[in-house]
Amino acid sequence: MIKEEIKNLIRQACLKLGFPVEEIALEHPENVEHGDYSTNVALVLAKQLNRNPQKIAEEIRGRILNTKYKILDTSIEKVEVAAPGFINFSLPKEYLLQELLRIVKQKNKYGSGEGNKKIIIEYSSPNIAKAFGIGHLRSTIIGQAIYNLYKFLGYKCIGINYPGDWGTPHGKILYQLYAKKLKGKTAKDQKKILDSLTVEDLEALYVSFHAELNTNPAIEEDAREWFRRLEHNDAQVRGLWKTTREISLQEFKRIYDLLDVRIDYLIGESFFEDKMARIVQLFRDKNLAKESEGALIVPFPNDELPPAMLLKSDGGTTYFTRDLANMQYRVKRWKPDMIIIETGVEQTLHFQQVFLAAKLAGITDNETLKHIAHGLYRNKGGKFSTRKGQTIHLEEVLKDAIERAESIIGASETGRDLSSKEQQEVAKAVGIGGIKYNDLVQHPSGDIVFDWD
Ligand code: ARG
Repeated sequence: MIKEEIKNLIRQACLKLGFPVEEIALEHPENVEHGDYSTNVALVLAKQLNRNPQKIAEEIRGRILNTKYKILDTSIEKVEVAAPGFINFSLPKEYLLQELLRIVKQKNKYGSGEGNKKIIIEYSSPNIAKAFGIGHLRSTIIGQAIYNLYKFLGYKCIGINYPGDWGTPHGKILYQLYAKKLKGKTAKDQKKILDSLTVEDLEALYVSFHAELNTNPAIEEDAREWFRRLEHNDAQVRGLWKTTREISLQEFKRIYDLLDVRIDYLIGESFFEDKMARIVQLFRDKNLAKESEGALIVPFPNDELPPAMLLKSDGGTTYFTRDLANMQYRVKRWKPDMIIIETGVEQTLHFQQVFLAAKLAGITDNETLKHIAHGLYRNKGGKFSTRKGQTIHLEEVLKDAIERAESIIGASETGRDLSSKEQQEVAKAVGIGGIKYNDLVQHPSGDIVFDWD
């Protein structure tokens, strides 16, 4: 690819000049006068070396032009320096025309490849007993796009959905479900209640738990106890948990169908429950864990990162412990060249800790683990919080988008010529497509702020 080749020219020139380069940014400038590709590498170096950027740019340009590269004859017309220190590259018309011909010939295969690497991409990963919030929409959309891109490039892709179906929040929901809805009822009535339970009900229980906590802090301990019972395979708690999980998975399926998203594997946090002891033992054996105020923590060399908790003081495992088991499992089962995890930016520290701990314990090489972090969907009022019951339900948003598309189609001349089935199909494609496009057209790391009333 020409872009990579130009980057390579720049890299070679910098190396020869003894400049310390890492990432080379090569952008397509908005203004045509700045050529087809432009790099700010000289500006970055100037800051680092405390030198004049324009001079550095001239040196790099000179070095590139004085070396015999084939692409300088065939695919690059001009290399110019522009103030305050950009280096711009222009491609000849013949090259662009040839490329255009290739696009016409190869159609939507253009750019595809024969990649021979195996990549795990984990995305979506919503939490059970909560409505599929708009917060997990970005992970689903961006993650699926990454998956599709790698697949297009010919890589073997393994898509994993890792829903949050384990951990202390479930103790809260299950305790509250029992205390508020089931306690004192006959088995028959309990069954009736459970049969008609919805994700909204579960979410309301979680919200009410937190509201009640203000006046009755003792329920925190009850919830912990319920989670402990879940961990120890208590039949009653386990049965309730299964029900809440099933209700949630049904809801996720509805959303994925609407979004036309299929993820290869569903392997949630609970899957790793019986693999916890082994991970804890591994960290103990390698002398990587230490006791601290009754808990077991993993400190990092030179305090590079804050310590992470492997076991809580009540002996319970954490999100961190489960992710270590998760990495170990993925590496063993698939031997991937890379594992990519797509989540919100607020989990950045968590993944730094997981990746470094996995490396220290020899579970995997740090290089094969990547976290891609997206910004939040924010209402003008701030982030959505399930605890306060302010989540926006994704299904509502998707249906709203489809309805809006439908009304535009119905009002348009061509739209009215379609059968109502066709209208519905177009509305779905346009509505859902619009939501996906709105996400993918923005940089993943930025927040998406919108006004929802
Ligand atoms: N369920 C988590 C959440 O909603 C996301 C899971 C991210 N992946 C992971 N391997 N921890 O916050």
